[in-house]
Amino acid sequence: MKLAVLTSGGDSAGMNAVVRAVVKAGILQGCETWVVREGYEGLVRGNTGVEQEPVLPPPPEVHIKDDNFLKNFRFGDGSLLKDGTGDLPSGRTLKGRYIVRVGWDDVMGWLTEMMNVVLEGGTLIGTARSKSFRTAEGRIAAAYNMIKEGIDALVVCGGDGSLTGADVFRSEWPKIVGTLREQGKITEEQYKLHGHLRIAGLVGSIDNDMSMTDLTIGAPTALHRICESLDSINSTAISHSRAFVIEVMGRHCGWLALLAGLASGADFVFIPECPPETNPWEDEMCAKIQRHRDMGKRKTLVIVAEGACDKELKPISAEYVKEVLSERLGLDTRVTTLGHTQRGGKPCALDRIWPTLQGIEAVKALLEATPETPSYMIGMCENKITRIPLMEAVATTQAVNQAIKEKDFAKAMSLRDPEFCD
Ligand code: F6P
Repeated sequence: MKLAVLTSGGDSAGMNAVVRAVVKAGILQGCETWVVREGYEGLVRGNTGVEQEPVLPPPPEVHIKDDNFLKNFRFGDGSLLKDGTGDLPSGRTLKGRYIVRVGWDDVMGWLTEMMNVVLEGGTLIGTARSKSFRTAEGRIAAAYNMIKEGIDALVVCGGDGSLTGADVFRSEWPKIVGTLREQGKITEEQYKLHGHLRIAGLVGSIDNDMSMTDLTIGAPTALHRICESLDSINSTAISHSRAFVIEVMGRHCGWLALLAGLASGADFVFIPECPPETNPWEDEMCAKIQRHRDMGKRKTLVIVAEGACDKELKPISAEYVKEVLSERLGLDTRVTTLGHTQRGGKPCALDRIWPTLQGIEAVKALLEATPETPSYMIGMCENKITRIPLMEAVATTQAVNQAIKEKDFAKAMSLRDPEFCD
């Protein structure tokens, strides 16, 4: 099997662990391995050198570590190394190359800090929200670029949009390959070899917004990052006896806000799938916070998910909450938007362990895939790695967003997490 891995959509801690696991598991299973830089955009641009409309600024040079010392130190006789198979030896430029053949040592140091290698968060192979891959022409170019390299299996790590794109790509694949043959772009032999595309999805999203899996890759680290920020805010809030309204990420999903609220003893939390019960909610919030203050609390913490709304779907902004707290309760209130600090930084332990196990499972699923099996999303349920038909998981996730739009919050919550609802 000739296997490529890409990361797509918003980055998340743990994506590097995914790439490492897929590459290493692939090599151990006898596959040839590639990474695709800049998400689907890299597939569309390929290695042709043909200039395309620049959707993105030119990609940065991939940060390549001089790992000769580590290579010898770590693997002794080098028996596991695939020297010469990779495209990434230190110092080689990757300009204009998006689909890059990699070997074992190219992903060394992508999981853990070791010797002189600094562990990075985010995704070292780059990510993008590709517009061109959303077009039929873009997907045809992507397929052509893959076939040129001989790639017949793809692991995509991204959110629900990226995984939907993967499934669309797979379902269109036979037609695309037929078109490429008709256009004379691929040979009869290539056409026969590439009749079937193997795809597996891993969910990279800090929001933990995918149904049918307990945790998405990057969510535990983002939660940890938020907790660190809340600890810092706590001390200044207590010193001044102030209120803080903290905006955290989560356009459709309140997982980060809710769990950060639990972890920090917040006074009130606003999440998209469960707006405040009472109308007007301002009364409910103020009554609760006043009660906490009356009990002697010197600080007030209110956490607002970025997609929070009231029951009528009117957005609840951190600035507005601040106004309410200042005007009604006379609290000296500040707003802190944590923004992208939540997405960055080193992955926590869970965001190294789960992505590694899921990456290995993705390779297994691809090796077992037939034209009849569905594309799988690799997830986890009650501490076990699971394979879930990708489109089922995406459809359930989209049903949550639809339920919110229809103000059916009970349905949204039960689809989101049936057990949490209880
Ligand atoms: O989906 C992940 C996420 O971090 C959301 O929580 C947030 O709304 C969005 O990405 C931000 O996207 P961008 O980095 O493109 O501004």
